[in-house]
Amino acid sequence: MIHLKTEREIELMKEAGQILAECHKEIAQVVQPGISTLYIDELVEKFLSKHGATPEQKGYKGYKYATCASINDEICHGFPREELLKSGDIVTIDMVVNYNGALADSAWSYAVGNVSDEANKLLEVTKTSLYKGIEASLIGNRIGDIGHAIQTYAEAEGFSVVREFIGHGIGPTLHEPPEVPHYGLPNKGLRLKEGMVFTIEPMINIGAWPSQMDSNGWTARTVDGSLSAQYEHTIAITKDGPIILTSQD
Ligand code: MF3
Ligand code: CO
Repeated sequence: MIHLKTEREIELMKEAGQILAECHKEIAQVVQPGISTLYIDELVEKFLSKHGATPEQKGYKGYKYATCASINDEICHGFPREELLKSGDIVTIDMVVNYNGALADSAWSYAVGNVSDEANKLLEVTKTSLYKGIEASLIGNRIGDIGHAIQTYAEAEGFSVVREFIGHGIGPTLHEPPEVPHYGLPNKGLRLKEGMVFTIEPMINIGAWPSQMDSNGWTARTVDGSLSAQYEHTIAITKDGPIILTSQD
């Protein structure tokens, strides 16, 4: 069942989302060659605790960290680790913030030092594809319109859309209906209704879309070794159009 949120519930989720957005801005300041994703994870824990919030991913299904940190060919659910980032890497930091019981989820990809033109294009296209999905998130449209907007754009730019991981409804639990694929057909799927809150979180690869699971049982990476990027926002469907609860603007 889809839990439609009241204006008040959306307001509370936005408070969580704003802490998350500020945390991403802080990460953007520190990402550089020579720091580790474990350092970023610790910074996130401190930032959230300073703001009276908690990292929802920690302890979720036995996951051990506040963030997921996915480097280069890792698509999602990478473990923060001591290995140092180097110039040319791209890294996606994904986190879910709990503030007074309200949740928000947002992932952001970062360039480390100087990255290749191709990697830069991947970051730009992936971010733009997220906003194309958000623009399609209008009352009366269907879930398929969101995926279609993302897929047609990303594929026209020569990249591929990951199929195995999709956006999801959120609040009061982390993953709830509806499912939000980042590919699909226009005018197909559930109709969008006022009060729906869900994530849109396209993972886009330079090469082919299939992924494989690491032996740690969590981390997915591209089968062909190509780079993968991801941008994610939590959005609310309202009469005035989609509201980005995790907006960094
Ligand atoms: N933020 C992730 C998502 O969008 C949650 C990953 S679950 C974790 O679904 F346990 F790995 F953190
Ligand atoms: Co997420």
